[in-house]
Amino acid sequence: MFPLAIALSLLASTPSFATTDHFGTNYLLTSNIVGPAFYSAFTWEAIADPTHGRVNYVDEFTSIKRNLTYASFDTFILQADHKTVLDADGPGRDSVRIISRKAYTQHIAVFDVRHMPEGCGTWPAIWETKGQNWPSGGEVDIMEGVNNQSPNAATLHTTEGCTMPASRLQTGTAGQLDCNYLVNYNTGCTVKFPTTQSYGPDFNANGGGWFVMERSLDAISVWFWPRNDPWVPWEIKFGGLKLNSRFWGPPTAYFPNTSCDLAKYFAENNIIINLTFCGDWAGNAYGQSGCPSTCVDFVNNNPTAFRGAYFDFAAVRVYEPTYF
Ligand SMILES: *[C@@H]1O[C@H](CO)[C@@H](O)[C@H](O)[C@H]1NC(C)=O
Ligand SMILES: *[C@@H]1O[C@H](CO)[C@@H](O)[C@H](O)[C@H]1NC(C)=O
Ligand SMILES: *[C@@H]1O[C@H](CO)[C@@H](O)[C@H](O)[C@H]1NC(C)=O
Repeated sequence: MFPLAIALSLLASTPSFATTDHFGTNYLLTSNIVGPAFYSAFTWEAIADPTHGRVNYVDEFTSIKRNLTYASFDTFILQADHKTVLDADGPGRDSVRIISRKAYTQHIAVFDVRHMPEGCGTWPAIWETKGQNWPSGGEVDIMEGVNNQSPNAATLHTTEGCTMPASRLQTGTAGQLDCNYLVNYNTGCTVKFPTTQSYGPDFNANGGGWFVMERSLDAISVWFWPRNDPWVPWEIKFGGLKLNSRFWGPPTAYFPNTSCDLAKYFAENNIIINLTFCGDWAGNAYGQSGCPSTCVDFVNNNPTAFRGAYFDFAAVRVYEPTYF
């Protein structure tokens, strides 16, 4: 038998490639973002909502002062204002959008979420993109939805020429297969998750769970484990130093590079966490959601309906390939 130590020392002599083959890629924890660390790992984007939401994104100073973001040693809360009746002529409900200082190509991002924003009119998202010349650097939506409608969907948005095979080894259900943002009003290539515990009130009632996205050379994959899932890998659950996805079973959503040159359609992406209201998706889908009144009217006049409109993060952890 070939001694492991020799195999490792042979690998050590070729540092120019990641340890990726049929044994999978090994990743090492490079950002462990817990509690107050969110303030150094992310910047606050007090921008106008590009999706026309009924939202007013505040800056970091304002978010701390108004307690719209709050950190303790093991918790980071990001929430919308739930106290103010809004002026119909104003910009919208105060909320927060944060973007990671670092950008990533190959990596695994682990989002340990205890609670996500819920409520009629809410549109929360955890996603990655490259801000400049969108969508030429690609967009990966890891967690996104509107108006409490479960389950979650994971979606890619690209320029023209990136499609997904209809049949894939994943536990979710494929929707549109073309990732081109120009097809069907930026629907993207999307995969619906199999469990309602992946989004909204059901997710929260269950104590949340883990969203995990791997971007490797040959696929973008997303896994979801609800909080009480006995199969969540221990290194995800406990924030291990090293990850290798080959033990995790088929992903919930699998986007292989077979008919999409991932290296061409995806540049270095930043992680974005945002909470908006109404707008292009939540607003347009509001009428079919079973929610009361109109979206803008509801968001303006019912602050207490947004007491549940908060993210509670136990951690965001980013792992990058090891080169040894
Ligand atoms: C929030 O996130 C979604 C993610 O898909 C994005 O489409 C939308 O533009 C974002 N909205 C704002 C206002 O940042
Ligand atoms: C700020 O929000 C956190 C999280 O919801 C809460 O625990 C804390 O009591 C709030 N602080 C104030 C001053 O309201
Ligand atoms: C997909 O990725 C694999 C592994 O990196 C590579 O060998 C293959 O050429 C890629 N296929 C396409 C269509 O880009």
